[in-house]
Amino acid sequence: MSPIYVLGVGPGGAAYLPPRAKELAAACDLLLGGRRNLALFAGLGVEKREIGRDLEGLLDFVAAVYRQKKVGILVSGDPGLFSLLGPLKRRFPPEELEVVPAVSALQYLFARICLPWHDALILSLHGRPRETFAAELAAAVRQHAKVALFTDGTNTPASICRLLLEQGIGERLVHIGENLSYPEEKLYRGSLEECCGLSVGPLNVMVIVDEKREA
Ligand SMILES: C[S@@+](CC[C@H](N)C(=O)[O-])C[C@H]1O[C@@H](n2cnc3c(N)ncnc32)[C@H](O)[C@@H]1O
Repeated sequence: MSPIYVLGVGPGGAAYLPPRAKELAAACDLLLGGRRNLALFAGLGVEKREIGRDLEGLLDFVAAVYRQKKVGILVSGDPGLFSLLGPLKRRFPPEELEVVPAVSALQYLFARICLPWHDALILSLHGRPRETFAAELAAAVRQHAKVALFTDGTNTPASICRLLLEQGIGERLVHIGENLSYPEEKLYRGSLEECCGLSVGPLNVMVIVDEKREA
């Protein structure tokens, strides 16, 4: 029986798609993924199925088919960073999973802004109601010289900068990466006040730096 392939595809640009993910995807009978990730394999004549937000439904479906079909699950960035590896491991034993690592959107942003990230605190605000993270985020930004965030269309960089100002956070440098690795990629940088006014597309990540403490 083939393992379930958990294939990191990187931030989305074809140049960052790992060769190993390409090779294993081509050997699959069925590829599961979000629309953006499936688009990377548009030219591949393998059955594809788009997945949405129903995580339990996805896990049930994989459990039902993986003994008959070679299944590849495409995930954005790296599978182990705020992604599907955790939920998959709660359902399937590790020997039934083969994981292909890839460049995370945050790792990519750190490279573009030329900042090391071994000392960054990484949080995900993706899909989280504001009241579940407001205090945690403010405390994290106070404690850490570098905080890196996965955002979404609701928890936008502008709303996060406003929240931090409301929480009394002082001077910080904010870096934002939009549509990273795609031809439409954009980078922004500015103070919390300046970034409050930005309108950024829903696919973005941000890094908040306390330049006084950053080595
Ligand atoms: C559920 S998280 C998954 C993170 C992923 N495992 C990783 O390592 O990058 C999805 C978030 O990643 C970010 N993201 C993914 N691709 C991106 C891109 N090309 N440009 C900017 N942000 C991106 C967005 O913040 C999005 O909300």
